[in-house]
Amino acid sequence: MSKPKILVAHAIFPETIARLQQHFEVETNQADEAWPKAQLIGKLQGKAGALTTGADRIDAGVLAGCPDLKICANMAVGYNNFDVDAMTARGVLATNAPDVLTETTADFGFALLMATARRITESEHFLRAGQWNTWRYDMFAGAEVHGTTLGILGMGRIGQGIAKRGAHGFGMKVIYHNRSRLDAATELECKARFVSREELLRSADHLVLVLPYSPASHHAIGAAELALMKPTATLINIARGGIVDDAALALALREKRIAAAGLDVFEGEPRVHSDLLSVPNVVLTPHIASATVPTRLAMATLAADNLIGYLTQNKPLTPLNP
Ligand code: DGY
Repeated sequence: MSKPKILVAHAIFPETIARLQQHFEVETNQADEAWPKAQLIGKLQGKAGALTTGADRIDAGVLAGCPDLKICANMAVGYNNFDVDAMTARGVLATNAPDVLTETTADFGFALLMATARRITESEHFLRAGQWNTWRYDMFAGAEVHGTTLGILGMGRIGQGIAKRGAHGFGMKVIYHNRSRLDAATELECKARFVSREELLRSADHLVLVLPYSPASHHAIGAAELALMKPTATLINIARGGIVDDAALALALREKRIAAAGLDVFEGEPRVHSDLLSVPNVVLTPHIASATVPTRLAMATLAADNLIGYLTQNKPLTPLNP
């Protein structure tokens, strides 16, 4: 019997491809870019499954052109690249890759917070440019981290990981806002206090965004929210571009209405708003919060196991629309 055909929409680890090839006829994208919609539809012809990343949009238009598709397995915990309702309506299973990246992503969130507060990339550029001539009392003097107030917007697993790092490792006072309040035991474990959105914005010395993107969270941080923040505060976004209004943020940074920002995600990435590229008080990284070799391998393996589980035994591991 011939094997089902699947598409791997982005280059992934050779060992994951080899594992998939035991069960499927596999076509992969070896290019460094996501396929444009029409090409993606073309590549999905005759495919029962697809391993996708956040860069591959699966919407009603794509689904209408791919009648054979049964499952899309995202190699990401976030899945705002999927129109899950449209997938459900077409009988296409959506899966994501939760849990395996939680601690790694929390590590990166904290690293970005530290780099932003302590002006690490800005000072490195200065050194590399040969501008370091002497010691100065105020040279790259940044914001304090230990003992300050850490604000977290979106208190899922990654938010909780960041809270624990801040509270237990750096003696920070942790406040958070979330759609729903955590249970008392989890609040205690994270040493975190639930506050209103407004109090979070007003009180945080470092505000970390870890909420999922949806139309409801689009531009959750815009000019009005930035205006509530302390002029000494930093803003860290490891969630999704689109949650922050990048133009409003660039202006607030330029006018020093907040001290600095650390951004791993951008609206319309891989493009980055040109105003952000021209302000010095921002640390910019290319969506790498989950990027360690073991974690990326675990994410790819989970996505592959979802495809194998569903297409061979009707048993996906982490379904979103079962
Ligand atoms: C995720 O898993 O959602 C990350 O953003 C992708 O690295």
